Amino acid sequence: QPAMAAERSLAMATCTAPVNIAVIKYWGKRDTDLILPINSSLSVTLHQDQLKTTTTAAASRDFTEDRLWLNGKEADVGHPRVQACLREVRRLARKRRGGGEDAAALSLSYKIHIASENNFPTAAGLASSAAGYACLVSALARLYGLEEELSEVARRGSGSACRSMFGGFVQWQRGERPDGTDSLALQVAPETHWPELRVLVLVVSGEKKPVGSTAGMQTSVETSPLLKHRAEVVVPERLAQMLRHIQDRDFEGFGQLAMRDSNQFHATCLDTFPPIFYLTDVSRHIIALVHRYNAHHGHTKVAYSFDAGPNAVIFALADTVAEFVEVVRRSFPPATNGDQFVRGLPVGSAALSPELVAAVVTEPVPGAVQYILHTKPGPGPQLVDDPSQHLLGADGLPRSRA
Ligand code: DP6
Repeated sequence: QPAMAAERSLAMATCTAPVNIAVIKYWGKRDTDLILPINSSLSVTLHQDQLKTTTTAAASRDFTEDRLWLNGKEADVGHPRVQACLREVRRLARKRRGGGEDAAALSLSYKIHIASENNFPTAAGLASSAAGYACLVSALARLYGLEEELSEVARRGSGSACRSMFGGFVQWQRGERPDGTDSLALQVAPETHWPELRVLVLVVSGEKKPVGSTAGMQTSVETSPLLKHRAEVVVPERLAQMLRHIQDRDFEGFGQLAMRDSNQFHATCLDTFPPIFYLTDVSRHIIALVHRYNAHHGHTKVAYSFDAGPNAVIFALADTVAEFVEVVRRSFPPATNGDQFVRGLPVGSAALSPELVAAVVTEPVPGAVQYILHTKPGPGPQLVDDPSQHLLGADGLPRSRA
């Protein structure tokens, strides 16, 4: 039992949570308040050694107001989605106590302080809301001693966040009920299921995306007939196929379907009126490069997926990474900091055959890819036991960061 007896003046819990990348995309809500999707989705949770959010939640009888700090800067704790998560966690905590006041339990009336930070630059445009809300809910749950499955609460922060509540391969079932109680994430296979699977994040831009996911998908729901067809007909079929490919560790099938689904998501964005564009010229260069690379080898060795931004997420098996990274380096010669071009898990060196270079490296664009992050599937949210890792000090305020 964590140390949070009511007589203690300060209780604190710290968790970390992962980023996830969907291979069957979520795009469109049937209920914008409860965040209920029009279709189920499926994602791969990425390893927290490379990409994670850390959140500390603290409660104290001495706090006079709820406060929130994101990456060291105070932010609006009144944000409706933050409030929805807080309210739901407190409601569950109250329910668990069966109405009666448990003397050992942390008082639910105490104000809370929350500090959250990412181990990757927010400006890189890597999806951070999924990890952020999954981490917020995990830390709050820990603070209040909740042990149940909380993807339903994380979903209230950001739809994709419910999938970051598990490691490995995760499905978000759309559910049928209007109250959302069956719109949950569940793990379909742990991260250990496919040990050879690797992920390369090609960071192409530091720019902020033009239209946020929330606003973008709402316009798509209102205007795109393709999105309606996708949700009703295409996704149910693809979801079943994707589950089989994952079960079979069939990279060809997995990779091809991931690319097709990413492409269809971006097609629904073009079908939205007025249209939304997340892919850039550099994104399209990467797409063409992947197809030339696979064509040269005669089968699908690498696959791309793009969310609501220009960065590419590449899937490959471990034995392909070194060669493909070299192909990317030749295709997008680093402008500066060439030594930091590849980050994350180590990447071996590879010599490219002249045939491969001639067939694949056809149109180099210097500087177009900032850097490559090499990672792999990883586990779900983690509790941080070491009190020296708390982001808030004994005074309940953010610790000065190193
Ligand atoms: C393109 O989960 O960010 O990344 O529910 O409005 O917070 P809200 O949207 P969000 O949308 C993610 C969309 C996507 C596809 C995906 O992750 O499935």
